[in-house]
Amino acid sequence: MEREEAKKRVEELRELINYHNYRYYVLDDPTISDAEYDRLVIELQQLEERFPDLKTPDSPTQRVGHPPAEKFNTIPHTIPMLSLDNVFDEDEFIAFDKRVKRFLNIADKEHIEYVGEPKMDGVGVELVYEDGVFKVGSTRGDGFIGEDVTSNLKTIPDVPLVLKSDSSIRIPRRLEVRGEVYMEKKKFAILNRRRGEKGEPLFANPRNAAAGSLRQLDPMITAKRPLNVFFYAAGVVEGIKFKTHWEFLKALEKWGFRVNSRSRLLRGVDEVIRYYREMAELREELEYETDGVVIKVNRIDFQERLGSTSKAPRWAVAFKFEAKQATTVIRDVVFNVGRTGAVTPVAIFDPVKIGGVEVTRATLHNEDEIKRKDVRIGDTVVVQRAGDVIPEVVSVIVSKRKGSEKRIVFPESCPECGARVIRIEGEAAHRCTGGLSCPAQLKESIKHFCCKEGMDIEGIGEKIISQLVDKGIVKDIADLYFLRKDDLLKLERMGSKLADNILNAIERSKETKLEKFLYALGIRNVGEHLARVLAREFGSIEVIRELSVEELMGIREIGPVVAESIYNFFREKRNNQVIQKLLKAGVKIKSERVEKRGVLSGKTFVFTGALSGMTRSEAKKKVEELGGSVAPSVSKKVDYLVVGSEPGSKLDEAKKLGIRIITEEEFIKMIS
Ligand code: IVH
Repeated sequence: MEREEAKKRVEELRELINYHNYRYYVLDDPTISDAEYDRLVIELQQLEERFPDLKTPDSPTQRVGHPPAEKFNTIPHTIPMLSLDNVFDEDEFIAFDKRVKRFLNIADKEHIEYVGEPKMDGVGVELVYEDGVFKVGSTRGDGFIGEDVTSNLKTIPDVPLVLKSDSSIRIPRRLEVRGEVYMEKKKFAILNRRRGEKGEPLFANPRNAAAGSLRQLDPMITAKRPLNVFFYAAGVVEGIKFKTHWEFLKALEKWGFRVNSRSRLLRGVDEVIRYYREMAELREELEYETDGVVIKVNRIDFQERLGSTSKAPRWAVAFKFEAKQATTVIRDVVFNVGRTGAVTPVAIFDPVKIGGVEVTRATLHNEDEIKRKDVRIGDTVVVQRAGDVIPEVVSVIVSKRKGSEKRIVFPESCPECGARVIRIEGEAAHRCTGGLSCPAQLKESIKHFCCKEGMDIEGIGEKIISQLVDKGIVKDIADLYFLRKDDLLKLERMGSKLADNILNAIERSKETKLEKFLYALGIRNVGEHLARVLAREFGSIEVIRELSVEELMGIREIGPVVAESIYNFFREKRNNQVIQKLLKAGVKIKSERVEKRGVLSGKTFVFTGALSGMTRSEAKKKVEELGGSVAPSVSKKVDYLVVGSEPGSKLDEAKKLGIRIITEEEFIKMIS
């Protein structure tokens, strides 16, 4: 790789890595796997090693490896913030209750008093109050040390800045109180809708939205997010001894903390189980997400006697709701082609019921995910369904392997249209290169083709496109130009006048500009701007479709990923056939080439062999600055062939065509 090319890739990688850092650290919503992310970082590190002058102090390689917490100060928790052990069904809870009694030396027939609380699905935090004044607040972090999010917590209305007191309750000198920051389901939906409208990335779920909102370096952003807090546990409380957890919750309320009103005092196993069932019923109706209830031994002296393991207290347990997961066996993997050409692997498995719904297929997302989870055909896997999202394969139960499982192989050609399937470096998805002729992408292609910025064909909306495709009238975008009036009249709600209007609009679109035509083709990564750049730079579709990846990368705006996608588009035979068909149908493309004025104005150069004084792209840039242009190959239109060392076949071709052949020195004279 030459330095120029490396430079471009380095810039591209930095942009990508920064973007994925943002998704991961700020939004808590990564869109690529860790493995993919690591690959990007390694590629960047290697390039920076090979070209040390490309290293900059602000490169993400200088930052990666440090935890995100670096952005915040850290705060140690006086008492570690432990996690909770889980029980998944009633029998497991009964066993927990028995263990508690055995530990406390209490007869099995006695009832332990518990407190039940909804298990909030949010971000655990600890707040410290000194003499009733809020001092610092932190996230749970690794349980021992959290991130200082004091300023952010202060923006949440549920966080009391000063505690209330009355005659019935004193204010402790130091109070450490724990709770959960969360976002209500409805508010989450509104936030995401707004973000979608603004073209901002969406949060995957309310918990990520809460975490992402709380962990903002700019508290002003947190302030704008609809966050709530429920308080439910104590750290250090100086000067007051509570007899029970229930009493503590009541004190919290008096001090002005928000405590979940669905918390209950429960006597014995039966009441716990009844509470659990009730809450499970209520689950969908609640304003917030919960994945179970937390059951805590009420008496503090019992809690102290029971103590904790290194991970979790022995006096509390998370009693989880029925999983939205199940296990099954993968029988086959098929590949789905989406509207944009993404080829998604889908596992087909023995039918299972998850949360009352029978499921037979689930997405495997992409190749990296398959590798990460090491999924194979024949594997016993855990599948999950969460809310309205598509079921997915979560993990493989490796212990159930027999040895006959088969690896999943991505198809080399598209199951819908037979075109090549490729995976572009730096992207997670495989893509069908069929573009214009792939039926899976056809409706979307037509819509894009007709849009204002494209061929600007008015009157062909989604409903018409759908019918044209479903009835088999239009099999590729070029078929639009062969539509007859009686084809249109076969469609629903189509009158003679409307049909005429559409046919006229199609006819009018035949006279178009190259930049619009290029954009209309829907080449991946080629937006309006790039279409214009390509049109001005190269002037004709014939030239553009012959460009090599290197030649495309000669353009300032084009990096390797984009160059590759343009190159690949034109390597696909079917795409070229459709373009040919469009031209045959009478589409006339006005050349857009911008002739730059300068000493080389109107002159076209071709290079062959290696230059000694500059790189190809430097030479090209120079020519263009002076108003000339550089062609990829020799043709009659070429004025000069510049010959470097070890020239290729272009030299012979140029001789045959009688093109002027000049040396590098002569070329340098011309440009200086
Ligand atoms: S009590 C030592 N109560 O669940 C007791 N935790 O899986 C631990 N959580 O880190 C905290 N709702 O962030 C407690 N009502 C509740 C809770 C709750 C949610 C979270 C908390 C904790 C995690 C443990």
